[in-house]
Amino acid sequence: MDKRNVIVTGAGRGIGRAICVEFAKEGANIVINYSRDAEGAEITKNLCEELGVKAITVAADVAKYNEAEKLFAACEEAFGMPHILVNNAGITKDNLLMRMSEEDFDKVIEVNLKGSFNCTKLAVSSMSKKRYGRIINIASVVGLSGNIGQANYAASKAGLIGLTKSVAKELARRNVTVNAIAPGFIETDMTLNLPDEVKSAMLSSIPANRFGQAEDVAKAAVFLAGEAADYITGQVISVDGGMHM
Ligand code: NAI
Repeated sequence: MDKRNVIVTGAGRGIGRAICVEFAKEGANIVINYSRDAEGAEITKNLCEELGVKAITVAADVAKYNEAEKLFAACEEAFGMPHILVNNAGITKDNLLMRMSEEDFDKVIEVNLKGSFNCTKLAVSSMSKKRYGRIINIASVVGLSGNIGQANYAASKAGLIGLTKSVAKELARRNVTVNAIAPGFIETDMTLNLPDEVKSAMLSSIPANRFGQAEDVAKAAVFLAGEAADYITGQVISVDGGMHM
C-alpha cells in the first residue's frame, strides 16, 4: 500500500477509524473524512501518524455532492487522487415503518446511499485513467436480510450493494474493483445504546457467539484493497461471525 492514497469517509470514530489505522499499518497516505466530529478525526489522524504515515483530515458532508468534491480536491492537493476509496459514512434513524417519517427515510438514503454514489462518481474517472482503483463500500448484513425497524437503513444498504455490483461491472476492464463488506453486529457507538434485550437476542443469532470489533471489518477492507484480492470484484463479503449465511 506504500504510496497508495486512501480516502475513508466518516472516519472520526468507529469502523472508519479502525479502517484508517489498518491502512496506515500498510503504509498508505490516509485522508480522514468527517462531517462534524473534528476532534474524533484528529484522534484518528494522530493514530495514523504514530504509525509513520501521512494523514490529513477533511470536513465534508458526503451526502452533498459539492462537499464531496471538496473532499476529493483536498486529497488531490495533499497526495494526488485516491487509489482506494472506502465509503464508510453511515447513519441510522430506526423506527417501525408505520412510525417512520419521510424525513428520516430520506436522510438515511441521502447519507448511506447518495453519499457513496457521490464519492464513487468523483473517484472513478482518475481510477479509470490510471487503470487502477479499489472501491470498498461498507454495507450491512441488514441490507441482505432486512430488519424490523430499519426499513430506511436496510433499503440504503441493499441499494449500496446494487451500486457496488453495477459499478463493478462497469469498471472491471479498467482494473478498478468494487466490493462491499456486510458487517454484522459490530461494537461501536452506533450499536452502543441498543437495549440489552436487543443485544442479547442479536448475540444468540451469531454462531461465533461474540460481537464483532471494528478491526474485524478493517482487516477485510485492507484485504479487498490488497493484491490478494485483485481478481475479486462485485462481491459482498459478510463479516458477521456467521450471523447471515
Ligand atoms: P459510527 O456512527 O460510529 O460512525 C459513522 C461515522 O460516519 C461517524 O463518525 C459519523 O459522524 C460519520 N458520518 C455520518 N454522516 C456523515 C456524512 N454525511 N458525511 C461524512 N461522515 C458522516 O458507526 P460505525 O458503527 O462505525 O459504522 C460505520 C459504517 O458501518 C456505517 O456505514 C454503518 O452503517 C456500517 N455498519 C455498522 C455496523 C455496526 O454494527 N456498528 C453493522 C453494519 C454496518
